[in-house]
Amino acid sequence: MTVRRVRPHHVFGLVETESCAERVVKVVLPGMAPTPLLLETAIIVAMATAVNPAGFLEIGTYVGVQTLNVALNLSDSAVVYTLDLDDESFREIESGQHPVDRDISLRHLGCGKLAFEGSDCESRIMRLHGDSKSYDFSSLVGKIDMVYIDGGHDSTTVRADTDSARRLLAGRTPSCIVWHDYGNRVYPELTRFLDGLSEEFTIYHVEETKLCFHVSDPTIDQKLANAMRSYCSAERRHGAAGNPDGSE
Ligand SMILES: C[S@@+](CC[C@H](N)C(=O)[O-])C[C@H]1O[C@@H](n2cnc3c(N)ncnc32)[C@H](O)[C@@H]1O
Repeated sequence: MTVRRVRPHHVFGLVETESCAERVVKVVLPGMAPTPLLLETAIIVAMATAVNPAGFLEIGTYVGVQTLNVALNLSDSAVVYTLDLDDESFREIESGQHPVDRDISLRHLGCGKLAFEGSDCESRIMRLHGDSKSYDFSSLVGKIDMVYIDGGHDSTTVRADTDSARRLLAGRTPSCIVWHDYGNRVYPELTRFLDGLSEEFTIYHVEETKLCFHVSDPTIDQKLANAMRSYCSAERRHGAAGNPDGSE
């Protein structure tokens, strides 16, 4: 098995609605704080809409824009937990961090107000502090249905974060893990780790993004398999994308 490729529109197709009005989402426009790619935000919001988690855990808050994007689009009862280093845990791990990660951590620690502070959904966002590799997630067991792994990008950290996510989500259906930075040439270890993990675990890579995900819901796996099958056969027949409305 290898990482399975899917097109963005296959992920959007997991959200079934009767009208466009039901597909309206809210996202932070780029321009003020460092902002994730809009396509990646849309994919994460679509997965979160399909899974409808009671609790969402983000590993790696940074400036909190993606945290806000997720919280804005979950149900009012859902809680978003977001973990990042504080000064103390940063001092403990900084010498072992990837140099790019160390710079990002410094920006997180120096950023002052996070994007979701002062927003309408701030009360549904819980900040957690510490090194994800040694963080005790036991108080979150039974509360989380979706984990977004975007903290440290070295293989030790990604492995530890993946193990924590799998423990938190064990037995919960539907549930989902999303990883960022697959294919990022700055972090080749992360891509190798996910390629290796795909030997035992179904992992999808969303083309044109650096996102990968695993979903524990056989219905969603089946929908993605069907969508890819018809996409690939249309590609073979016409040499072009098989989505009738031309979307990606
Ligand atoms: C790429 S940024 C996160 C971006 C954010 N998720 C977004 O989409 O806007 C990575 C963050 O992970 C944090 N981080 C790095 N290593 C960590 C660790 N071992 N434990 C917790 N957080 C970590 C960094 O301090 C940084 O703020």
